[in-house]
Amino acid sequence: MSALAAPPVKLEMVDLKRQYQRLKPEIDAAMAEVLAQTAFINGPQVKAFATELAAYLRCNHVVPCANGTDALQIVLMALGLEPGDEVIVPAFNYVATAEVIGLLKLKPVFCEVHPELFTLDLASAEAALTGRTRAIMPVHLFGQCAPMEEVLAFARQHNLYVVEDNAQAIGAEVLVQGQWQRAGTVGTAGTTSFFPSKNLGCMGDGGAVYLNDDALAERIRMMANHGQRQKYSYELIGCNSRLDTLQAALLRVKLQHLPQFTQTRQAAASRYDELLQGLPGLHTPVRAAHSTHVFHQYTLRAEGGQRAALQAHLQAAGIPTMIYYPSPLHLQGAFAYLGYGPGSFPVAERLSGEVFSLPIHSEITEEEVAYIATQVRAFFA
Ligand SMILES: Cc1ncc(COP(=O)(O)O)c(C=O)c1O
Repeated sequence: MSALAAPPVKLEMVDLKRQYQRLKPEIDAAMAEVLAQTAFINGPQVKAFATELAAYLRCNHVVPCANGTDALQIVLMALGLEPGDEVIVPAFNYVATAEVIGLLKLKPVFCEVHPELFTLDLASAEAALTGRTRAIMPVHLFGQCAPMEEVLAFARQHNLYVVEDNAQAIGAEVLVQGQWQRAGTVGTAGTTSFFPSKNLGCMGDGGAVYLNDDALAERIRMMANHGQRQKYSYELIGCNSRLDTLQAALLRVKLQHLPQFTQTRQAAASRYDELLQGLPGLHTPVRAAHSTHVFHQYTLRAEGGQRAALQAHLQAAGIPTMIYYPSPLHLQGAFAYLGYGPGSFPVAERLSGEVFSLPIHSEITEEEVAYIATQVRAFFA
């Protein structure tokens, strides 16, 4: 495939317009059905989606909720942790996990990440362990799983809950004790986000918790519904977190296409890998042996301070890029009270200065990938 001199279309990090145009007949029909039924809250599509997602994930329970941050919060509420209990979470990360830990008056304890895989580093998590540690929250960053076999062994040894933040890796598979299992289903509970740009995204906010344990699933369901099992009988202090029926109807449609979305992302990533080899100081994503990668992001590392110039070069060629994440959490003002500082997590700090992500999504074409890769190579030429 020869690369074009100009972008084939306006390039986006995630092209939701094109995806909607392709799926429009199915999506419009599903939405129209909800509009006609008017059961906007807890309509039949919500339960149907939960059942279908549980089948896809090969797990026993899916509890839909309002967004991925709520999903994390609801799980922590249901685990019955005490104020001051400690939860280990990676420092190079989106804010949601550490934020809900702090919100619930638990203590976020940061750990380092693997310099090439970007997911948590178990040796660092072990070093963070204290007598008050109650849980660990691995985050399956950019579409690839944390080393779950090791995390689960560590958690078993120290009697910790394992809450998997799977907002970025829905559909990935992780190898645990010789068996490939869906990301997010091997810990105490897994959570996800249906934010529009996610691999399985809705047209607004949405999220879910998934797990296998019946009793904990019941508590999580109650937490998301004002602590009720029966209407107007409040057994627990809960919250109100619902996936609305329109979003569930849309997600039922998109779930059927998720394997194809994933395949397109993986094919684009493999092509980027081939086309971007051998450039000085540029590192394409490293694949872990213990996980498949669903490429929520295609995230590279640019060493030697060349990232900003490369991004500017790409922008001039009509290619958007993003930095996930420009500052590690331990250096953010919200977590200053924890007393970390520059140098606390050198890998996380270095990655924040090196990483950048290229466009990848369910609609990206070979021609677009070739154009983007050619422009990256031109920067180094
Ligand atoms: C890793 C991770 N966790 C949690 C969330 C939170 O999801 P939401 O925006 O649906 O609350 C996100 C969303 O960006 C995320 O990427």
